[in-house]
Amino acid sequence: MSQYQTICEQLQQSPKTWLITGVAGFIGSNLLETLLKLNQKVVGLDNFATGHQYNLDEVQSLVTAEQWQNFKFIEGDIRDFATCQQVCAGVDYVLHEAALGSVPRSIADPITTNSANITGFLNMLVAARDAEVKSFTYAASSSTYGDHPGLPKVEDRIGKPLSPYAVTKYVNELYADVFAKTYGFKTIGLRYFNVFGKRQDPNGAYAAVIPKWTAAMIQGEEVFINGDGETSRDFCFIENTVQANILAATTQNNEAKNQVYNVAVGDRTTLNDLFNAIKAALNDNGVNYDKSPTYRDFRAGDVRHSQADVSKISHLLGYAAQFRIAEGIAQAMPWYVAHKHLG
Ligand SMILES: NC(=O)c1ccc[n+]([C@@H]2O[C@H](COP(=O)([O-])OP(=O)(O)OC[C@H]3O[C@@H](n4cnc5c(N)ncnc54)[C@H](O)[C@@H]3O)[C@@H](O)[C@H]2O)c1
Repeated sequence: MSQYQTICEQLQQSPKTWLITGVAGFIGSNLLETLLKLNQKVVGLDNFATGHQYNLDEVQSLVTAEQWQNFKFIEGDIRDFATCQQVCAGVDYVLHEAALGSVPRSIADPITTNSANITGFLNMLVAARDAEVKSFTYAASSSTYGDHPGLPKVEDRIGKPLSPYAVTKYVNELYADVFAKTYGFKTIGLRYFNVFGKRQDPNGAYAAVIPKWTAAMIQGEEVFINGDGETSRDFCFIENTVQANILAATTQNNEAKNQVYNVAVGDRTTLNDLFNAIKAALNDNGVNYDKSPTYRDFRAGDVRHSQADVSKISHLLGYAAQFRIAEGIAQAMPWYVAHKHLG
């Protein structure tokens, strides 16, 4: 039995209270679904900046009425410290996901990104520390590798950030480390690498590449590739990310705390290959897309190649990615086809 299966069984036998910030978003709502299915109690916070009520409604439709009773939602903003205090009260494990994602959004509006991602983060750290929660796990980002050319990416070899968003995620890590040193409040940062899966928003100027292309192909629209298509990423299916969060939050290994970890698969897929993989998977779901992609300029702030070394999280937290990109895409496509009205 894997470490993850063991922990899930233990949680079911002895349920805990979790706080998920950003619960109406993509990753937050998937964490919610898994935790409710494990009969956990969950407090969720969101201000609907980029999240949606329909994500919460969908989770409700996927769990039992009793499990849904274990969920308490609070609409509020992490930039408000009193709200952070309110949601942390009585919580065992915090999963802090709320932030404004997207490199281009941060380039267009660095002030708003900074306030959610840095002020909001600091509010949550202080509130969680004061509430004496058992653990605090937060969404860090592979963007912290910035201009470091090394591949695969190893946690302690980072470069300079390439965007305001990357600065905010790096500042999170710096604050987290200082909180361990000055207050003994040890947290875990998870550097996500291009997460994808159901409920990732296909809409808007700042949509991530997989939902954006999927929605465009379903609608028969043009797909744009920024650059020559040889830019590569370590795409990580949401179920792997959920696993990493649950392992991080519940770890009893003191050495594993006050650390940051890559969360990915350890693979590297080019945008050209991604285009073909989505096209083929949609074809399996009855969507026939016959256009070629349109190439345009590289996008400012984007890292050229990204691929994670996942040995640290495997050794210290017992993580083992259950899904590689093809399996994840095969699982995600039926959801996008069924939800094509969102695109
Ligand atoms: N999706 C990825 O590939 C990826 C990669 C690296 C890091 N991350 C990080 O993971 C986290 C979750 O990302 P996601 O992909 O689920 O994005 P998302 O936009 O779907 O979810 C973020 C959620 O946070 C909420 N939120 C934003 N600002 C808030 C505020 N001030 N107060 C309360 N709620 C607020 C949004 O409404 C949304 O529901 C973010 O911290 C993001 O930076 C994601």
